[in-house]
Amino acid sequence: MNVLYSGQYVQRFKKIVSLLGPEISSVCELCFGDTFVAHWCRSRDIQWTGIDLNQGLCRRAAKLGFRVIEGDVLSLNLPTADVFVMAGSLYHFHTNLSPFMDSILSRTSRLILSEPVKNLSSAPGLIGWWAKRSANPGTGHASFRYNKESLLAAIAEQQERKGFHYRVVSSDRDLLLEIQR
Ligand SMILES: C[S@@+](CC[C@H](N)C(=O)[O-])C[C@H]1O[C@@H](n2cnc3c(N)ncnc32)[C@H](O)[C@@H]1O
Repeated sequence: MNVLYSGQYVQRFKKIVSLLGPEISSVCELCFGDTFVAHWCRSRDIQWTGIDLNQGLCRRAAKLGFRVIEGDVLSLNLPTADVFVMAGSLYHFHTNLSPFMDSILSRTSRLILSEPVKNLSSAPGLIGWWAKRSANPGTGHASFRYNKESLLAAIAEQQERKGFHYRVVSSDRDLLLEIQR
């Protein structure tokens, strides 16, 4: 993953946790994959719950003592949390964005999204093929990816529907967004 993120893999998570202030007592991380945020929360006594459908990743996190829910975020009854976080995974839900947002915003008032908008997966040839395979959760080699314009358009559409506020925190390889209900 660090190769896919051109060495910026951990940096993305550091930017996300920098948005979690001292008032936060619970975080739910969707499609967590990694346990960087989980460790950060543990060191601050913040309750972290991770949800992912990948059995191996869930088992690994559970072994580390983290609270994990294995399953599809679209069909699960999500827990409540002060903040929901999701990194590098919104593209999985691009055809289900409305139910996805409905479900999350019924369980929290704040969502932090970090999504790559410059992707190796859209590169031609072997690099693109390999990048798609590396991001496969076991449900097929997803080829759809957002770019900055399509992601902002999708969020604006949801904003119109749901009436939330959002801001772009930073924009480089990944777009970091904060949504507030
Ligand atoms: C590209 S990885 C990102 C992992 C991590 N958040 C990161 O930024 O490194 C996408 C993750 O989403 C998970 N995933 C994909 N579709 C999912 C779904 N419908 N429900 C739960 N997890 C899902 C995969 O298992 C995988 O761990």
